[in-house]
Amino acid sequence: MTNFDEEAPQWDTPIRLERTRALAAQMLSQMSPLPGGPDGVTVVDLGCGTGVLGSSFARGLVDARGGDCSVTVVGVDPSAQMRERASERGLLVVDSLEVAQQFAPVDVIVSSMAFHHIDDVAGALASCTALLRPGGWLFVADLDEGQEFFHAHLDTPIDGFNRDGFVEALESAGLSGVTIDDGFVGSKPDHADSTISHAYTVFLASARALAGQ
Ligand SMILES: C[S@@+](CC[C@H](N)C(=O)[O-])C[C@H]1O[C@@H](n2cnc3c(N)ncnc32)[C@H](O)[C@@H]1O
Repeated sequence: MTNFDEEAPQWDTPIRLERTRALAAQMLSQMSPLPGGPDGVTVVDLGCGTGVLGSSFARGLVDARGGDCSVTVVGVDPSAQMRERASERGLLVVDSLEVAQQFAPVDVIVSSMAFHHIDDVAGALASCTALLRPGGWLFVADLDEGQEFFHAHLDTPIDGFNRDGFVEALESAGLSGVTIDDGFVGSKPDHADSTISHAYTVFLASARALAGQ
């Protein structure tokens, strides 16, 4: 298992920042119309780590709306050290999806590279559905299946997801309009031999809570 409290101080490497910001921009580009309005927008960043995804997404949304939008980002992460850094980036932070329900209904849930660390994926997706307002959006970026090298030195619950299986899981959680696309292609040094690099792929899934739910 990764010890995310230990990892937090050195988490924001250039490759992770590049990946996470690219994913935030792609998530934003898939939303039409953009959320916003007099009450502002609430975004949940699930498995927020240091808060880069949520804060980048929020900044992009405000820019895309010409500054005419206030965005609150709630970061969900069990790691206290990750939450501390996300808080420094301006996120409100909680340690679980159960606690995040106090912010329901939320407009958007974003998540990058977190679901493969979650034991109960179906339960987490059901909690996301419960958290969203009717018509709200869920975006999940995570590793494609078959990339065991990514966590070769670790014991993670899941090595990656089959795209069709993840679509089914989103639909089983009561979400609709599911899409799944290429999200990011990166390169990661081999754990045992840093002269070797492995290419890895990340998918980006989107889904919406049924309007009128
Ligand atoms: C690989 S990091 C990704 C962090 C960040 N989203 C990013 O893209 O850089 C995975 C994060 O998921 C968090 N995590 C692990 N189990 C979780 C759970 N059950 N619910 C929410 N987050 C979880 C970890 O603490 C960690 O911060």
